[in-house]
Amino acid sequence: MRIMNRDEIDHIRSSVDIVDVVSRYIPLVPKGRNYFGVCPFHDDKNPSMSVSREKQIYTCFSCGATGNVIKFVEDYENVSFIEAMKILAGIAGISLDLGEIKKQTSSNHVLYDIYDLSFKFYRNNISSALGKKAKAYLKNRDIDESIIKEFGIGLALKDHDTLFQLLSGKKYDLNVLMKSGLVSRNDMGYVDIYYNRIMFPLWDISGRVVGFSGRIFNGEQDVSKYVNTRETEIFKKGELLYNYHRAKEEARKENKVIIMEGFMDVIRAHTIGIKNVIAMMGTAVTKDQALLIKRMARDIILCFDGDEAGQKATISCAEELLKIGVTPKVVALESGMDPDEYIQKYGKERFIGLLENPINIMDFKLSYFKKHKDLSSDQDVSKYIHDILGELNKMDDEILRELTIHKMSEEFGLDPEFLKSKLIEQPVKPVYKPPKVSKKLDKYDKAQMYLLYYMLKNKEVIQVYDREIPYMPTERYRNLAFHISYYYKMNGDIVVAGLVDQLGSQDELLKTLGEIEQLGLKDDYTLKEIEDYIRVIQEYDIKNGQAELERKLKEERDMNEKVRIANEMIALKVRREQYD
Ligand code: UTP
Ligand code: MN
Repeated sequence: MRIMNRDEIDHIRSSVDIVDVVSRYIPLVPKGRNYFGVCPFHDDKNPSMSVSREKQIYTCFSCGATGNVIKFVEDYENVSFIEAMKILAGIAGISLDLGEIKKQTSSNHVLYDIYDLSFKFYRNNISSALGKKAKAYLKNRDIDESIIKEFGIGLALKDHDTLFQLLSGKKYDLNVLMKSGLVSRNDMGYVDIYYNRIMFPLWDISGRVVGFSGRIFNGEQDVSKYVNTRETEIFKKGELLYNYHRAKEEARKENKVIIMEGFMDVIRAHTIGIKNVIAMMGTAVTKDQALLIKRMARDIILCFDGDEAGQKATISCAEELLKIGVTPKVVALESGMDPDEYIQKYGKERFIGLLENPINIMDFKLSYFKKHKDLSSDQDVSKYIHDILGELNKMDDEILRELTIHKMSEEFGLDPEFLKSKLIEQPVKPVYKPPKVSKKLDKYDKAQMYLLYYMLKNKEVIQVYDREIPYMPTERYRNLAFHISYYYKMNGDIVVAGLVDQLGSQDELLKTLGEIEQLGLKDDYTLKEIEDYIRVIQEYDIKNGQAELERKLKEERDMNEKVRIANEMIALKVRREQYD
């Protein structure tokens, strides 16, 4: 893989417009000079992220996330810098040949390797002569060769240590092998965790195999139908969604994603050409997963199993989504069927018909909460209405609330105004206002922030800073000023979006940059104003700088540095005498 140089990065970054790129992911609304949208990087419902076309950066007033278009793609897509550059080059129509993207090397690379090797091993097994029975099982379930290939379905053999033999032959550390969740140890020695199972690889969100689910296929009794690998450093069940990496493109195109309970359901949907599907893998949805889902598409459809467990899962998944401002729709299957069985029994057209007519989540709840209630009894009716009001209180969608109230009012002959009065007061949504600089800012903070603001706008102010300011009082402002000054030295000008690249992954500094940008000060400034800020900072340095330098002098071990600090102290003393 080739390293990209600064010019190439700048070229690609400036060939796309941040407003256009961010709009591909989240809706933006223009307001004043900037665009606003709901920040995808924290749990939010309000449009607190602003995107500036002029500066080519985004910043969130709520969580502080700040960056340029590259950082946005990296963080949104969960990809590396290089991968983000490839995506942006694609958008800009620039050809970018970086060769194969090298697998991320981290302390976990051994685990990735082990999973990759095991994946290939299982895949080979199923296409070998030993895989006949497993293939017959899959064929019987209407899973053909192409699906086996696409989903990387494999086979763990009958013998209890074939994978261990392979892995230990590669000289992997035994401790790491034990940690991988593929090998265990008993009286006989090391053995495989999986044998005689059909192996379904599980991928992380960037498409690397990080786990397996192994299914019985010989009618074994008294064992779990599926056994999943246990969690490791690279496999966190609550952070991934089955088929995410394959589904996300299609989900984005259609602006719709369908969530199912089991991965066999996803695989079946694929066979009939429905590709924007993911599965939960038998666990309740976590907040991380909900946020991931929210980023995939606007329309979210829950299509869980048509049994009691599936309905419960629908309610709890919807709950998690409602919390982050997503109102899902529901396809409720007839009782006792999962999507896989439904498609097998009724075929593609009928299933697609269902998907095209999902019901809203409140209608689903209206019928769900009716179950086990006797609505000829006033007591049950009262309980039922209370349940539904409770559910309405969790919802943001005011239109859906209104519609549901009307349905209830008609069904039970109650005044809609009365029902509405029983809803607890909705917390007044905070109206979004760009934060004003708080009055608590002391004059030193203000001087530093304002100076930084104009340094980011004009190189002349950077020159003044370089000439006049020995030391900014506040560490994070000092660091940012240092970076601005350095960027200017290297590039001869200041480009905020370029500075973001220089800051790299120093999130604190990026947030500080966002904080400064959010000041939104007037464009024009007078030299007199700049001089005032400078004077305030100098005054601080003169008053407090001496103590700071003394402390540093004491701590410093390097002789040259000591001399430099001492000189600085002398200069400061001279200035102080002038000042007094
Ligand atoms: P299901 O039992 O609904 O799976 O479990 P399924 O898709 O219908 O499977 P088939 O058709 O019988 O092969 C839903 C999900 O719950 C997890 C799996 O992730 C499965 O996809 N599960 C299920 C387990 O982890 N262990 C089990 O024993 C069963
Ligand atoms: Mn099922």
